[in-house]
Amino acid sequence: MVRYRIRQRERGREPVVKVTLESGDEENDEWVIRRETLRSRQKRERQHRLRHLIDPRQFDRDFLDEMCELTTDIRTLAKTGEGLLSLQTLLAHKRAMLYFTQPSTRTFLSFNNACHVLGIRTSEIRESSTSSEVKGESIEDSIRTFSSYVDVIIMRTIEKGLAQHASEMLDATPRPLPVINAGSGKDQHPTQALLDIYTLERSFDKTGGIDGKVIGMMGDLARGRTVRSLCYLMKNYRNVELVFIAPHAFEMEPDIKQHLTEHEIPFFETTKLDAVLGDLDAIYVTRIQSEHDVNGESALIDLSQFSIGPEHLGSIKSDGVIMHPLPRGPELDPAVDRDPRAKYWRQERNGMWMRAAVLTKVFEAETTFYERCR
Ligand code: NCD
Repeated sequence: MVRYRIRQRERGREPVVKVTLESGDEENDEWVIRRETLRSRQKRERQHRLRHLIDPRQFDRDFLDEMCELTTDIRTLAKTGEGLLSLQTLLAHKRAMLYFTQPSTRTFLSFNNACHVLGIRTSEIRESSTSSEVKGESIEDSIRTFSSYVDVIIMRTIEKGLAQHASEMLDATPRPLPVINAGSGKDQHPTQALLDIYTLERSFDKTGGIDGKVIGMMGDLARGRTVRSLCYLMKNYRNVELVFIAPHAFEMEPDIKQHLTEHEIPFFETTKLDAVLGDLDAIYVTRIQSEHDVNGESALIDLSQFSIGPEHLGSIKSDGVIMHPLPRGPELDPAVDRDPRAKYWRQERNGMWMRAAVLTKVFEAETTFYERCR
């Protein structure tokens, strides 16, 4: 590990951070360099519109690259007190509804705090038992009611397809506000996939990004929506190979495998982690989704075969990446956290910045954002 000596120099009103490597070479701190380039960032030739965010299949490579760039740019501006204060007025005229009737810690908190970063005010329902659904109100009427008060609906529900239904329903009303899918049952989790792409791209910054990488996904691939969504995004990257490591009962579902085949993305399935671990550039570990059990099927799995602990670290590539959407169970030993290849805490934090980028995009505030960076 290179140890850094950090020296602060005053230049005008802004401290300029110079990082001196032990070798004596001087390098500017990444964020200082980024702040400088941000001032002169040219408008992208093709700016994408984002109305509803429902399904990862709606994204192309250009859009993903734009989102990764915007995420870093928002983080960069937020690194100074002045920049953060400016961000907090960017969308201060907007309000968001967080309708999360399925349990959530990270997705809820990161969306809530992304809203706060941008000045968006939030309302929330976290249990249908506290809403008029207990009085028999239909979900359609509930959603239409949210639309009377806010400018965007961010929703996580146990039902597959409800965000899609809400977006179509609202489009047919006089208040067609954007809907963001924050997790739809066992099916999809598109904003998690965006933050996973961002984390992978940043982790592979020095080795050419996601293109050409071998990515392993392990655990409950049948019922884990994060890996299902991430698979959908892989068509946007060149020469990616996927390795699925799962017990037979929780193999990747046929719909995803068919999608991969259609897009000529090679994938390999195994139950033997040790046989493939050394070939992977990234291992994306997931937990067993026992809340979806019908007959206690999770208890039948020998989880030790689908876990990462300190004993595996020697087999993982020196520039490999260990990810997990969290929350974790016994499949990821906390002793791994100290390893520099463990990126899941960073992944979690990236979620807030990526979601801030999503909201900026949904409200078409990128031009105003870049003007404020000058
Ligand atoms: C995931 C989810 O809710 O699907 N968590 C998250 O959003 N970070 C993963 C999980 O619950 O296993």
